[in-house]
Amino acid sequence: MRAIDIRNKYLNFFERHNHKVIQGASLVPENDSSVLFTPAGMHPLTPYLVGEKHPEGTRLVDYQKCVRTIDIDAVGDTTHLTCFEMMGNWSLGDYFKEESIKMSFDFLTQELNIPLEKIFVTCFEGDSDCPKDEVSASIWREVGISDEHIYFFGKKENWWGPVGSTGPCGPDTEIFYDTGLEKCSGDCNPSCDCGKYVEIWNNVFMEFYKKEDGTYEELKQKNVDTGLGLERAAMTFQGKDSVFEIEIFKPIMDRLQELSGTRNK
Ligand code: ALA
Repeated sequence: MRAIDIRNKYLNFFERHNHKVIQGASLVPENDSSVLFTPAGMHPLTPYLVGEKHPEGTRLVDYQKCVRTIDIDAVGDTTHLTCFEMMGNWSLGDYFKEESIKMSFDFLTQELNIPLEKIFVTCFEGDSDCPKDEVSASIWREVGISDEHIYFFGKKENWWGPVGSTGPCGPDTEIFYDTGLEKCSGDCNPSCDCGKYVEIWNNVFMEFYKKEDGTYEELKQKNVDTGLGLERAAMTFQGKDSVFEIEIFKPIMDRLQELSGTRNK
């Protein structure tokens, strides 16, 4: 399936689930000095995650071009890009964990026909700021994900945000695709970067605001912020070994090789 078909299916699926399609924002944020480039689909929506009313309602979907400087050292491996497109669906104080997880699961298994055994998920293991996310884990079990495919990790893996030192953030549940590679020799699990598991979708349950003093305050509304990387999704679902092999980049890579007289190994 071409990347554009995945994107269209995504927008149509969430439109059918009563989301309004909105336009992605400029890659260079306007009237916002907190970042140089838009780093995530949620960033332009920050005012609405903390309570301002969005003119299009409480269920939104879009795709957003992002530059994630925090990942720049990883660019050049098989899954990280300098500029990438992130598809996102949002609940602004509307649905929460159950509907979010069930919609992600249905999209992957029914729209993209991903077999159940290819899906692994991770949930927040809990700490003094926020309890263990048993709710997400039990929803994953309910839809059919077995315990062997559910992992728990701490803030480093299963917490998203804020962008900068303050702002909306929360625990997340991440969805990984098992590429079928052999496990590496280490403790190979979805947090391992050997290439066996590729993170394709992140569902963030934005229910906190991180304050200047480093503490977390509950937001008045519970939000969902998700990010499904288009190029990575295309790579995994097309069975390619690298994002640079998907049809968006292939002609560019071929031309670069032709011009430079070198071959990509
Ligand atoms: N904001 C989350 C991310 O960018 C979905 O991964």
